Amino acid sequence: MSTVMTSKLIIGATLLLFSTSSYADITYQSLGQAATDLSKQAEWNLTISPDGDNLPTGNGNATQGAKIFALQCAACHGPEGIGGSADPVVGEVGSLASEYPEKTVNSYWPYATTLFDYIRRAMPIDRPFSLSADQVYALSAYILSQDGIIETNLDLTEKNLPQVKMPNRDGFIAIHPD
Ligand code: HEC
Repeated sequence: MSTVMTSKLIIGATLLLFSTSSYADITYQSLGQAATDLSKQAEWNLTISPDGDNLPTGNGNATQGAKIFALQCAACHGPEGIGGSADPVVGEVGSLASEYPEKTVNSYWPYATTLFDYIRRAMPIDRPFSLSADQVYALSAYILSQDGIIETNLDLTEKNLPQVKMPNRDGFIAIHPD
């Protein structure tokens, strides 16, 4: 048997083994059961409102955030949050009304608290929920400071993150005014 055929057989067998075992691992134990464990519900309630309600205690600054960004984010978002294969997260502030509008976090998002919520639940895209609250504050500080939205040396916390005013905060109009 040729080496190529042998290696194809090995790959095939490995794939079969992998798919069989991963299916066997799914037990669906918790489906159909009442969600009575309230402590677990709180654990999964990650939604942060625009005014910062539900932000966890913690702090982090841009210097710390830059280091984490280089290791865990730059591969997709570019070395400084722009120019990678994934969406740019910084830059283009003030471009929305121009001929070439570019929606980045800093140019478009109305609330800084959304940044915390989004990073914590979704990033890095291949390892969601892997960052601590302090790391998420640090990353948020790094991204916001890149466009001068906050001072580079500010320690971002659950108290001051809701106070941050995003450049496009007033660029939205209510479809259903109160
Ligand atoms: C493996 C690639 C990858 C890595 C690593 C990664 N991201 Fe992302 N990120 C993406 C992709 C792809 C999107 C767009 C997702 C979508 O639109 O659903 C995204 C979207 C985002 C957004 C929203 C951008 C917007 O304008 O909507 C933010 C903020 C963000 N990532 C921050 C981070 C941070 C912070 C890290 C590091 C902790 C990180 N990402 C690591 C791929 C990655």
